[in-house]
Amino acid sequence: MPDFYQWFKPVLWQLDAERAHGLALSALRAAPGWCLPFAGEEGGLETTVWGRAFSNPIGLAAGFDKHAQATAALYRVGFGFVEIGGVTLHAQSGNPKPRLFRLTRDRAVINRMGLNSEGSNVVAQNLSRQRGTPLPGPLAVNLGLNKDATDPPSDYGALAQVLAPYAEILTINVSSPNTPGLRALQDPSKLMAIVNAVREASETAIDTRHPTILVKISPDLDATDVADICQLAVREGFDGLVVSNTTVARPRTLQSPQGGEVGGLSGQPLFEPSTSLLRDVYMRTSGKIPLVGVGGVSSAANAYEKIKAGASLVQLYSALVFEGPALIGEIKADLKRLLGADGFATVAEAVGAEHRAGES
Ligand SMILES: Cc1cc2nc3c(=O)[nH]c(=O)nc-3n(C[C@H](O)[C@H](O)[C@H](O)COP(=O)(O)O)c2cc1C
Repeated sequence: MPDFYQWFKPVLWQLDAERAHGLALSALRAAPGWCLPFAGEEGGLETTVWGRAFSNPIGLAAGFDKHAQATAALYRVGFGFVEIGGVTLHAQSGNPKPRLFRLTRDRAVINRMGLNSEGSNVVAQNLSRQRGTPLPGPLAVNLGLNKDATDPPSDYGALAQVLAPYAEILTINVSSPNTPGLRALQDPSKLMAIVNAVREASETAIDTRHPTILVKISPDLDATDVADICQLAVREGFDGLVVSNTTVARPRTLQSPQGGEVGGLSGQPLFEPSTSLLRDVYMRTSGKIPLVGVGGVSSAANAYEKIKAGASLVQLYSALVFEGPALIGEIKADLKRLLGADGFATVAEAVGAEHRAGES
């Protein structure tokens, strides 16, 4: 089947990155199934985390479909799960444009979107409209904070109240670098108040089925902060951690002229730091808490490295910008081969393998 994304990429590349993203999202939503590069599920990568079944461990990271506009189409591309959002309680426009930059030579992206969101009620309506078609995998919703919020636990709680009925997973985003003060909420006492508010709100929002609650952390935390968060997560029985969000660091190796733009860097240069943080978090939590590995994944080898470092599930975003949706099918086929070559019958067997002596 022709790879339509590669046909359109030269046109999209002429446009401002945010406009190109909007067009790609609309095209994805409108595309009939046969246009998409991979529609079925080959099998062999099924995994169960938090008692939830995933057809494969590769998910779409937050930020791509912020307002839940193309959710069903994103599963058709082959993702095992999709994270929509970040969603804020009230609509907000985010930072002035331009605020999204492609660093082509570095296979990277810098964004300073500033959590632009149509707000929780609009996103809930979008999700409720799609409810007729059951999604083939768990849906995660990324919870963000309004720029002018004065009581973060109350805002996150209210968000959970509105969105929990539609989600299998709620991710508390306290790590976007583009909302002033947000990352300070990773401080254990502040974080615990937010987690408790989200837990309580999602329990009251739905009677029977409670969503999994994850916390997404920054790759820019210092070692003490990482140790504190890991200790808190184990002690307080967090469901899981998402490692990691974008970084404000700028590796010296960046070659693109846009490398000096302010914002969060994602894509290939984030692979090393986010994977090394993932490894550290897995060790500090003794593998007791499922981790979602995200940052710089653009191949099956990258996904496999995250799994062996401790990720039960993997997400990506930036690589889609460069490679298009055909990448997902390729990653899955290659990942199956890599697991098989090392003698792993399932994804779960490989999770954290590098920490166990004698395993690959
Ligand atoms: C344009 C853009 C918007 C993003 N928005 C969010 C967001 O709203 N919430 C969040 O937790 N992460 C957000 N992210 C971070 C991604 O979910 C992911 O953690 C990061 O990009 C690293 O993955 P990647 O290297 O595969 O892109 C965003 C990333 C990009 C590029």
